[in-house]
Amino acid sequence: VQRVLTGIKPSGTPHLGNYAGAIRPAIAASRQAGAESFYFLADYHALISTTDPLRVQRSTLEIAATWLAAGLDTGRVWFYRQSDIPEIPELTWLLTCVAGKGLLNRAHAYKAAVDKNTAEGADPDAGVNMGLYMYPVLMAADILMFKAHTVPVGRDQIQHIEMARDIAGSFNHLYGEHFVLPEAAIDASVATLPGLDGRKMSKSYDNTIPLFAAPAELKKLIYSIVTDSKAPGEPKDADGSALFDLYQAFADAEDARAMRTAFEEGIAWGEAKQALFEKIEAAVSPMREKYQALVADPAQIEALLHEGAAKARAIATPFLAELRRAVGLRNLA
Ligand code: TYM
Repeated sequence: VQRVLTGIKPSGTPHLGNYAGAIRPAIAASRQAGAESFYFLADYHALISTTDPLRVQRSTLEIAATWLAAGLDTGRVWFYRQSDIPEIPELTWLLTCVAGKGLLNRAHAYKAAVDKNTAEGADPDAGVNMGLYMYPVLMAADILMFKAHTVPVGRDQIQHIEMARDIAGSFNHLYGEHFVLPEAAIDASVATLPGLDGRKMSKSYDNTIPLFAAPAELKKLIYSIVTDSKAPGEPKDADGSALFDLYQAFADAEDARAMRTAFEEGIAWGEAKQALFEKIEAAVSPMREKYQALVADPAQIEALLHEGAAKARAIATPFLAELRRAVGLRNLA
């Protein structure tokens, strides 16, 4: 069997990047014959970037509802909340003891924070918590606990998955072959979905398009996507255009080619934006009502997550016992 695993941090409202980069390919992978899928809410990770308890709870509900509205079948998929699996922080410690500090020094998110402080003349570690520093080890525990082969993610997560491989390799080398070495699966037509300003769509840039924005709001946001000032009739460059990249992420190959030609032939920006709105709306509208019903019924979502946690722990508990034995710890009977 091919094990597929991915997580999303409940630190805000799900956006188009989360959907196209992770949720959509993960749902498709879960439908493949012989696949075993593990999709979860990475709420321990969310604590690194938010200290607002209500936000974590609200976002957990919204992201769970998004997975379900997007077609996740809880009969086939292990669907759970990270913090319901106490074996994960315990595995994090076992991995911490074999993870090189030098490896973690190189993590992009940590380095970016340090570089920003340095550029501003502040203390390099100002405002950096140890959660940010340890982020890749916790993520390695998520992945290695369930022996995932494939991890569908956006491009921004590749380094984390490479670090998980490194850490797994170190542990296997020291204690025997316990872990599977995971690989990232990146959807080339999405990889890094741009946001309204053309940079990577990200909560931290405040440039996101919420997946379940109402149609009028969705349209308004799409019309605010940054373009150059080329007039209707003037040829436009599809490469490097956020508008085109977004279109391509929601269109089939044939429509994407036609849009590329339309760019060359000088389509007006307003017309291209209308076409993008229609594509996204067509993809989202079949899920929107389901999403709203799910968000209005937190008890149902809680019940599903509880079941999912029990199923996941049935794997995690005996595996952690094996790992504790391997490193020389005792398991209480
Ligand atoms: P997070 O919550 O930031 O994002 C969730 C997923 O959405 C993808 N994504 C994007 N893809 C393409 N274009 C974008 N603009 C874009 N923005 C976000 C991310 O690549 C990701 O796949 N560390 C992870 C959560 C995590 C995890 C894991 C993932 C925790 N443990 C184990 C996989 C396996 C994160 O913060 O994702």
